[in-house]
Amino acid sequence: MAANPSPGKLSTVLVTGGTDGLGRATAILLAERGYHVFAAGRNAERLEALSQLAHDRKLPLEALELDVCDAASGERGIAEIERRAGPVDILVSNAGIAIAAVMEEVTPADLRRVLETNFFSPIRLAHRVLPEMRRRRHGRIINMSSISGKVAIPVMGPYAASKHALEAASDSMRLELYPFGIHVVLIEPGYIQTSMNRTAAELSSAYAKGAERSPYKGIYQAFLGEWERTRKASRYQPEDCARVVLRAIEDEPPRARYVVTRRAKIGIFARRLLSDQALDNRFKKAFRLDELRELLAREEKN
Ligand SMILES: NC(=O)c1ccc[n+]([C@@H]2O[C@H](COP(=O)([O-])OP(=O)(O)OC[C@H]3O[C@@H](n4cnc5c(N)ncnc54)[C@H](OP(=O)(O)O)[C@@H]3O)[C@@H](O)[C@H]2O)c1
Repeated sequence: MAANPSPGKLSTVLVTGGTDGLGRATAILLAERGYHVFAAGRNAERLEALSQLAHDRKLPLEALELDVCDAASGERGIAEIERRAGPVDILVSNAGIAIAAVMEEVTPADLRRVLETNFFSPIRLAHRVLPEMRRRRHGRIINMSSISGKVAIPVMGPYAASKHALEAASDSMRLELYPFGIHVVLIEPGYIQTSMNRTAAELSSAYAKGAERSPYKGIYQAFLGEWERTRKASRYQPEDCARVVLRAIEDEPPRARYVVTRRAKIGIFARRLLSDQALDNRFKKAFRLDELRELLAREEKN
């Protein structure tokens, strides 16, 4: 295990969504490095399991009940951290969900739920910790984005919208907070196997059930095929992402964004390099959109 962060160095960390997946791996790695980590989530069993792990391994890691979508819960959680450890030095806004639905079919409630979790919550938590960070002229905000913060594919519109919003807000904040010595960093992972896949399937089950009767049936099918290929091809573990978050915390100064996974690097590079038309053509091929178009035209004739 590495030594504790040196005195005066940023040391109290809140990791939202710290009880599972990328957030949990990050919370554990940071605690192993000697940061005082508060790993937050809602699920009592996962919180208990993490507390037990911290106890068994004597890690400076505390599980904290905090629902990022509930402003009062966020306030209580941060007040509790301040009481136990002082102000938050590093906020890792990682809690996130995905709902897979085409934009015409997604309900306003589901769209709001994704935006609330992935976008409004990180901003609300930043509002809570920033005054103290500004006063002390130090602090770091790490926002967990995604390749979907740069590239929007069919059926991932709600999720991509939330991550694009997070990217834009983080870009503004990075510049606004520069004079105060506070760094704002984006992490952009590609696919990494976590519980998110299962949670997304649960949250999207109504759309999956309705897909058979949906005019977008072919697009849902193509999406599932693409998703399965991506899932099978990924060899990355949550710990790979955790190491990148650690770098984002310890690089002096940090980069504006860190991409995780080879596919995300290729995808984001392609987005930068290719015209909209060229990128659309790639996705039209991957999602067999021309075939679907021909099929619809044939159906119309009959
Ligand atoms: N895995 C990937 O391939 C991937 C790729 C790109 C980006 N990301 C991003 O990485 C982040 C973490 O994803 P993951 O794959 O680690 O997901 P995960 O395994 O499903 O973990 C999600 C975590 O967020 C927490 N959470 C969800 N909603 C919450 C809420 N309202 N309040 C508090 N905590 C909440 C969950 O805990 P509770 O349910 O106990 O609250 C859990 O700890 C997300 O922002 C995701 O968009 C993931």
